[in-house]
Order: sequence, then C-alpha cells, then structure tokens
Amino acid sequence: MAQCCINPSILSADFVNLEAELRRISNADAVHVDVMDNHFVPNLTIGLPVVQRIQAVSPVPLDAHLMIADADRWAPGFADAGVASVTFHAEASIAPIKLARELRARGAKAGMALRPGTAVEPYLDMLPELDLLLIMTVEPGFGGQSFLDLTLPKIRRARAAIDGSGAAVALQVDGGITEDTIVRAAEAGANVFVAGSAVYGAADPAEAVERLRAAGSR
Ligand code: DX5
Ligand code: ZN
Repeated sequence: MAQCCINPSILSADFVNLEAELRRISNADAVHVDVMDNHFVPNLTIGLPVVQRIQAVSPVPLDAHLMIADADRWAPGFADAGVASVTFHAEASIAPIKLARELRARGAKAGMALRPGTAVEPYLDMLPELDLLLIMTVEPGFGGQSFLDLTLPKIRRARAAIDGSGAAVALQVDGGITEDTIVRAAEAGANVFVAGSAVYGAADPAEAVERLRAAGSR
C-alpha cells in the first residue's frame, strides 16, 4: 500500500499560539503554510518574517503555498529561508519554468499550483521541472470551503500525465479535504493532501492526521 502525505494547514490554527499548534501535528508529513497577499486572493495572512519563525520552530518540514501576485519576484525568498517546498501559482508567474528552476537552485522543492478553473494541459511539458503539482479543490483564499468535485477529472488527467512522464512529481490537493472527500481525491490519483479545518477543527489534530492518512492511502 502506498502511504499518502498529510499536510495540515495552519490557516485553521490559532495564530497567536503557532508554536503550540505546530506541536499538535508533529506526526504530519509537513505543515502547509498559506501565504496570501490580498491581491492574488481576497484575503491576507502572513508573510516571510512569520514564515521564517515557523521554519525555526516547526517539528516538520514546511510546505509553503504562495497565493501572492508577482510570484517570480517573491517566491525565491521563501526558498532562501529554508522552506522545504515552495509552491507558487501558475496564474501569478510570468516565467514559471525559470521560477521553478530558481527554487530548485536555492535548495527547495519546486511546486506549482493551479486554481480550479485553470487547465493542466498547457503545463504538462514542464512536469520534469516540478517536484509538486497542486490542484486546488476550492477557489483559493479561505479555509472551510466545500470540495469541488468538478476538479476530479483534472486530478485524473494530471495523474496520468505524471505517470506517463516518468517524473517524480507529487500530486497535491488543497481545499475541502475531509475523511470523505480524501477518498475521492486519492482514487483520482492525488497523493499529498492538505487539510485545514478537518485537522485543526478536530478535538485531537494528531488523531485527525492519522485518520486522514488511513483514508487517503491506497
Ligand atoms: C485555501 C488554502 C487552504 C485552506 C484549506 O486557500 O489554500 O490551504 O487552508 O482549508 P480547508 O481544509 O479547511 O479547506
Ligand atoms: Zn493552501
């Protein structure tokens, strides 16, 4: 059985007690850090200085999801900060191939995200440049939204393309992941799952991580 990865999103954590909140998910594969700039998405969260502090105290590697405009300019700084995996949005990058190479050159895994309405096909030739492809399963910007089942065919097509390319690209989904929707996303081919409210909304976040991992592994 292939074990999946569960990356809790701290968007649903208590922002005043982040260090303690990170300790509650020390059994996770990585911590998903949502950076929003109120331009690319209509919400504002944290920036590089806070991410650097999370990086310093986190028991697990960081998976930064940059929902910011002008990714070409800002994303490399997150790699320089030691963030293990840096994901920018394709819609926010003028030169995604150059940016992916720059992230790798700075020691990070290169991730690229697609909004629910963005087709994956124009990007398939750049799969070998990526370590992670994130297919958003809600419109980015807020936690607690419902999973969009209309993204399942895109997840399937991305899985087929990744397998066909022979490149080692993780297929991540983010938004509305629960013990129920994770099964559908896993069946479609996703193997890295971001979960915010399903983890931090649970009485025991670590136990929620284990339940999701069991449901998403196949
Ligand atoms: C949404 C963020 C997600 C969000 C997921 O824009 O990218 O990471 O925190 O939250 P849930 O799991 O509650 O949908
Ligand atoms: Zn996210």
